[in-house]
Amino acid sequence: MNNDQALLQLLSDGAFHSGDALGAQLGISRAAVWKRLKKLESQGVNLERRKGQGYRLAAQVITLDKQAILLQLGQSLDVRCLDRVESTNDIGLGLAKEGLSRPVAITAEQQLAGRGRLGRQWQSPYGHNVYLTLVWPFEAGTDLKGLSLVVGLALANTLNAMGLNSVGLKWPNDVLVGRHKLAGVLIELSGNLELNPTAIIGIGINGWLGPREREQITQPVTDWLTEMEVPFDRNELVGKLLRELMQLLPVFAQQGFAPFKQAWLDWDVCFNRSVNLVRASQQCAAIAKGVNEDGGLLVETDKGLEVVYGGEVSVKWN
Ligand code: BTN
Repeated sequence: MNNDQALLQLLSDGAFHSGDALGAQLGISRAAVWKRLKKLESQGVNLERRKGQGYRLAAQVITLDKQAILLQLGQSLDVRCLDRVESTNDIGLGLAKEGLSRPVAITAEQQLAGRGRLGRQWQSPYGHNVYLTLVWPFEAGTDLKGLSLVVGLALANTLNAMGLNSVGLKWPNDVLVGRHKLAGVLIELSGNLELNPTAIIGIGINGWLGPREREQITQPVTDWLTEMEVPFDRNELVGKLLRELMQLLPVFAQQGFAPFKQAWLDWDVCFNRSVNLVRASQQCAAIAKGVNEDGGLLVETDKGLEVVYGGEVSVKWN
């Protein structure tokens, strides 16, 4: 555990702690405590100050921990819990380049350059959210169409099982609560796609976003704390999500997206809605009609029924 993690752990019990007390427990001065807290705050930690009482975390931070994740997962997996990284997907891409024969999961407390789909940034403040990458080597020749939808399905199943019942999926893999985005998936591929395709499956889940992060996000967004009023246990969520992925991905590797189509449609928030399709900066109005066996989006346009595999869909909610 590094110094920041030790400080966060002390502040995680919900009680206020004076700078003096924190300093004494960590063996550093009050001024050094203050400096560290300022730094953590500037990185997005949700700190509360009360005159005469000191500091506490407005939202609890339970540090991600390999053993706690494995306990939930209930099977062996190479899990690496990192503190601060540029992007967990970059770490995953690096591992894939070295050549992997088994899956590896990477988590981080914070990403300094978190990446979203379509070249966007992914807001990644310290400690409250999930930044997870699962590096998954597939057999030669596996058809990976629909993979990102299966990952979205695993997310919806897991979040729902943890009590978030109002969750929905927006093609290809946004996890929404109502109209607001709670989680996203960025899949990157490495290796020769015919010989040794490896998927770098990046998943971001918002546990708590502060005003500064919300200001940076241009689409309607939400976080678990807003929806559920109590924070999630990130170790539980990561462990359960990995367990779900480890059940679904081997089936996907053998049979593709088809066996998951109906389950995915059960979460589909776009079905029969007017949507705006943006592809290569061209816009087109359509009615969403679910997905096909490959995970392509079915849309009705003035040209008839079409299948869309790339691009972005924005829903007209009316
Ligand atoms: C999206 O735009 O919806 C996809 C967001 C994906 C974010 C995750 S966080 C973990 C992994 N590392 C990254 O840099 N991005 C993904």
